[in-house]
Amino acid sequence: MRAMRSLLFEIADAVHEAVRSTEGAFEDAEVGMGADGTPTAKIDRVAEDAVFKVLAAKGNPLNVLSEEREFQDFKRAETLVLDPIDGTANAVSRIPFYSVSLAVGVRDLDNVRYGLVRNLASGETFYAAKGKGAYRDGERIKVRDFRLDRAQFLVYLGNRAARHAHGMAAMPRRTRSLGSTALETCIVAAGGADLHAVVMGAATGGLRVVDIAAASLILREAGGELYDDRGQRFNMPFDIRVRRNMLAVGDPRVLEAFK
Ligand code: IPD
Ligand code: CA
Repeated sequence: MRAMRSLLFEIADAVHEAVRSTEGAFEDAEVGMGADGTPTAKIDRVAEDAVFKVLAAKGNPLNVLSEEREFQDFKRAETLVLDPIDGTANAVSRIPFYSVSLAVGVRDLDNVRYGLVRNLASGETFYAAKGKGAYRDGERIKVRDFRLDRAQFLVYLGNRAARHAHGMAAMPRRTRSLGSTALETCIVAAGGADLHAVVMGAATGGLRVVDIAAASLILREAGGELYDDRGQRFNMPFDIRVRRNMLAVGDPRVLEAFK
């Protein structure tokens, strides 16, 4: 238990250090194609290499499902679901809101046992172990109650967003679109916002499991819940090809506001 926590923090530290110290890490250049079919930027590669280096030095104690490489099957009981950089577009634009996302579990989101998300610009770290609560930099976090008069939503916007997403964004007084689903979901977990939504059109997809695996546990451990775009409890298999729309809420009364 503590060993897994230490391993995840060690990996986050290694990624943090690699991103900070590698010359040209933030160059806006594609260096290849990821396992998910989207381009790999230099910072994605730097971060992912740092993770594999730590794991290899420990005899590869976990299988790895990552956004960039093919599934690494080391015949271990559990899998590290890894997004080396969530918010790559922010990182290369030097917008200080991008993260590493690390989750450990089996099969699907319902069976994630540990999750860690670190903002690599600020160093702020969110962590949860199943059944043990969620923490930000060592302090317990909780979702907040929904009140329409002070509502703040974090909604993916842009040309892949479904029309419905723009409707949601127009509802509260304040809406932000921050560009890292892992971190945005953690902000909901910590009571800084009421909703994070990624709702894209059928042709353009939705989230991948690597984006949300760690943050889904952190949000649930903080008292929140995730739903699909039909209002059902959200789950995703550990499969990089699957994409799904998602609403992450602190208080389920947020969903009433959409009816
Ligand atoms: C992206 C971010 C973004 C979300 C996109 C993801 P990436 O992840 O999480 O917030 O809206 O769907 O692709 O590409 O930076 O790992
Ligand atoms: Ca990524």
